[in-house]
Amino acid sequence: MSHPHPVESHVFYRKLTRQYPLISRGQGCYLYAADGRRYLDACGGAFVANLGHGVGEISEAMAAQAERLGYVNGTAFTHEPVEELASEIARLSPGDLSLVYPLCSGSEAVEAALKLARQYWAECGRPGKRKILALSPAYHGNTLLALSASARAHYTTWFGDWLVPVTRVPASYSYRCECRGRPPHCPACSGEAFEQALLREGPDTVAAVIAEPVGGSSTGATVPLPEYWRRIRAACDRHDVLLVADEVLTGAGRTGTWSALEPYGVVPDVMVLGKGIAGGYVPLSAVVAPPRLVDMLARGSGALLHAQTFSHHPTLCAAGVATLRYLRTHRLIKRCAEMGRVLHLRLERLRGLPLVGDIRGRGLLAGIEFVADRHTREPLPRAAGFAEAFTAAAMDAGLVVWPSVGHADGHNGDLVMLAPPFIITEDQIEEIVHLLERALRAATERIGAAR
Ligand SMILES: Cc1ncc(COP(=O)(O)O)c(C=O)c1O
Repeated sequence: MSHPHPVESHVFYRKLTRQYPLISRGQGCYLYAADGRRYLDACGGAFVANLGHGVGEISEAMAAQAERLGYVNGTAFTHEPVEELASEIARLSPGDLSLVYPLCSGSEAVEAALKLARQYWAECGRPGKRKILALSPAYHGNTLLALSASARAHYTTWFGDWLVPVTRVPASYSYRCECRGRPPHCPACSGEAFEQALLREGPDTVAAVIAEPVGGSSTGATVPLPEYWRRIRAACDRHDVLLVADEVLTGAGRTGTWSALEPYGVVPDVMVLGKGIAGGYVPLSAVVAPPRLVDMLARGSGALLHAQTFSHHPTLCAAGVATLRYLRTHRLIKRCAEMGRVLHLRLERLRGLPLVGDIRGRGLLAGIEFVADRHTREPLPRAAGFAEAFTAAAMDAGLVVWPSVGHADGHNGDLVMLAPPFIITEDQIEEIVHLLERALRAATERIGAAR
């Protein structure tokens, strides 16, 4: 049974031209609809449900906290859940990243991190350092500063003149870069493009670069070369530019380590977390920063100039604490790395099938890019709507995947992303791959007429 729309429903839906299945329950890796259908949640909603659905420990911790203390404002009080969440995130985070500013969404935390960067330089007596560099393609959120930093053209359709200028640097997107990921590497993949952009802008005018350490949906889980982040880090150090790692999607273990930058041996100046840090049980995000930055604010304005009613929220923080405890107790980040290897091995079965151009990723994060021609990597015409057709066919087969479009050239490009809960089993991975094969056959037939 589909939820009625729009005649009998008052919900302003995310997509206004489709009917939604009514989900009444989630358990483990599965979602159960009111009509009895079952869906294997292979993307954790939007890279969020890292623990799986229906974990009693999280809901119990939230309920207990809401009963004890539902809300106090972060300007007046501190409380146990925020203290505990901050200590736990500080313990997990690399280098000197030890101060945690909790918010709700990833977009809010990105905004706060960028404001922190600019405020820091202003309070250091260098207010000219105010520009932001960001990669393209990339996604950092949909509020206006976060959207300004994002290179996803379609979200800006009507709002371009409300955005602030951000300098774009070609992202390391090896499937579509000049070098196709092979040496000698092109400037985008080697990091040279970043150094050039920084010098072109004038480092004295640049506050920060913000980037996803491993690509999210905009480059379909592209993993940059081992030396890429060290080169960016070194350039930032040379020129006093803050490196802001947007780990909203990749953090909290999604790529098999607490942060996706960890395997590169690089510590950012600011890390942004979101999505998985409360497993989707509540909206929770965080800016993680070192005392060397925050102390400047303490000596200057006395606060980060980013005030939100629901920052440092007791119940949200309690959900975060319970999530991190659950990850630790059940060794789920290690499991994510192990199951990630199984996922990527099994996904290899799809390589070589019609329209499958590339499969990539790390840990339990994978992107499958579809193309019209595997040799030239020519994208499918956008009008064919392949990613959407694939996602619909997967849903029909009982599998939830995350579609993404437009990354090939700003308009064309079809990707689907996978990000199953860390509790996924080998059998369930097999089920995912089997359903992907089915969806591929059905979607290829569906778009047949449109091509
Ligand atoms: C890398 C990245 N940053 C920021 C965001 C924004 O997070 P939110 O949608 O919670 O505002 C997202 C969301 O998809 C993301 O993937």
